[in-house]
Amino acid sequence: MKDEIINLLKKEGKLSSKTIDEIKQVDIHDFSNIVKEIGKEKTEYINAEEISKDLNTRYIGKNLYVFKEVSSTNTVAKFLSTNGIDDGSVVISEKQTSARGRSGKAWESPLGGVWLSIILNPHVDHSKLPLITLATGVAVAKTLEKIGVENPEIKWPNDIMINGKKVCGILTEAVAKFNTIENVIIGVGIDANLDVDMFPEELQEGTTTLKEELGREGNENFLIKTFLEEFENISELFDHEGYEAILKEWRKRSYSIGKIVEVREPFNKNYDAYVLGISREGALVVEKIDGTLEKVISGECIIKN
Ligand code: BTN
Repeated sequence: MKDEIINLLKKEGKLSSKTIDEIKQVDIHDFSNIVKEIGKEKTEYINAEEISKDLNTRYIGKNLYVFKEVSSTNTVAKFLSTNGIDDGSVVISEKQTSARGRSGKAWESPLGGVWLSIILNPHVDHSKLPLITLATGVAVAKTLEKIGVENPEIKWPNDIMINGKKVCGILTEAVAKFNTIENVIIGVGIDANLDVDMFPEELQEGTTTLKEELGREGNENFLIKTFLEEFENISELFDHEGYEAILKEWRKRSYSIGKIVEVREPFNKNYDAYVLGISREGALVVEKIDGTLEKVISGECIIKN
């Protein structure tokens, strides 16, 4: 484990070779103290103290690891999660150099956005992962409502849309050992204080940013604090009232229900269908052209009307 963390820190350029040699000598029990020291970088606009100041949560975001630049906050979070990092810890970076999106796509993450990953130890099996993703989408939508965005919507499974354009994506990844989930990493990317023309041309048409929609720049630290609170609220709703409560919130904000879509499932042929709703497991329920019903568990839906 120690070697894995050292390799990660080396790869991320977070340690000089002298420090690496020193760390290698450290007793494994002291190693967690070294891990605590990382993620305390001096950054331009993300400020752990500002986020923590009035953060009203029980465990989400109580430990913040803040970086100027990493490859991907999900990658860093995954490594940290295997080293006894507390449940609810959050990794944030001002910039990512090789961030991942869904379906193996790259994710643009320049300075000005909010790129973060939450480390959870949720004691659930794989079947609950889609619901965690949907719950995160609801938490983002509620956050945007709180900062003044009118009517943010969720495109199945987890794109947050404003006026039909994507402003946020979510990538949930499980860290599993012998088929048991040890941790879940929930990566959230919000195009906050960015201009659309900073994105590659092919993405510009379908992308928007908070700056663009609100007509002003906002405070990233406040956005993160609000999101962490909403995320904890929604996980408590999940724990106490079950997934129906989450699905109800999701359905209220759905961008997908009632639309004709092209369904693109991994290893399956693409097909057109009408979106009827969302099932209790978080699958999209669609009606195919021939009238048969289908549950889409993973994949993408391209809206056609
Ligand atoms: C999508 O394709 O819609 C999901 C995008 C998820 C991007 C976020 S940014 C923070 C975290 N780190 C990553 O590498 N990806 C996620």
